Amino acid sequence: MLLARRQAALDAVAGQLKGREVVTAAVDLGADGVAAKVAPLLEGREVDVLVYNAAAAPVGPFLKMTPEQTRASLDVNCRAPVELLHLVLPGMVARGRGAVVLMSSLSAYQGVANTAVYGATKAFNLNLAEALWAELRGTGVEVLACCSGAIRTKSYLESMPGGAPGELEPAQVVREALDAIGKGPAMIPGRFNRFAAFMLRRLMPRRAAILTMASQTKKLHA
Ligand SMILES: NC(=O)c1ccc[n+]([C@@H]2O[C@H](COP(=O)([O-])OP(=O)(O)OC[C@H]3O[C@@H](n4cnc5c(N)ncnc54)[C@H](OP(=O)(O)O)[C@@H]3O)[C@@H](O)[C@H]2O)c1
Repeated sequence: MLLARRQAALDAVAGQLKGREVVTAAVDLGADGVAAKVAPLLEGREVDVLVYNAAAAPVGPFLKMTPEQTRASLDVNCRAPVELLHLVLPGMVARGRGAVVLMSSLSAYQGVANTAVYGATKAFNLNLAEALWAELRGTGVEVLACCSGAIRTKSYLESMPGGAPGELEPAQVVREALDAIGKGPAMIPGRFNRFAAFMLRRLMPRRAAILTMASQTKKLHA
């Protein structure tokens, strides 16, 4: 089951997934009542794996953000995954199997200038995954946060035309994240990014880590 706003984009992905049943639905995960919209789609179906990948990532200094932009980040990145977890986790636990992958980011590990609210939502995703991983141990349900560095997605390439160190192709991130299910609570795809995270989190004073990250994210375009 694929959910996003653009039906045509969902249909294009579904068309590539040959030989299996694919359900698509245009759902705005930033709108009110996400659970009420998704619940009927799940009737008669068992969700074994939930991957929460969607994100609203407005770029720019906080003072230039509109309240609508920051609210969209909070709704899409925080509220909607919690609502979907309420929908799918009880069934997974009852069946004694299942997995959840929450897309987080290296932004989760320190404040990130120029994407302040987005970065904070990614810290929320990591924190949530860690807590659920601990709560659900022994139930057969695995929870994992994928704390990726830069991924060469269309939206990333548009906002960072100059590139950044450690960029990964989306397929590599997907492969490493799926391989890490069961080794939670969190993983970082790519050797360079694991090393960068080690430097930022373990070796640098936190102020230096924040300013190092800011030196990269100031290159992001809105
Ligand atoms: N790209 C990077 O460098 C990078 C780095 C670290 C972490 N991440 C994380 O990786 C994930 C994917 O990143 P990305 O670069 O692929 O992001 P993206 O292109 O901005 O968006 C990914 C998907 O989210 C969907 N989406 C956005 N708002 C939505 C809404 N209101 N309702 C439903 N679907 C919505 C979009 O589909 P529609 O437009 O059709 O709705 C799109 O397919 C995100 O969680 C991001 O935080 C990305």
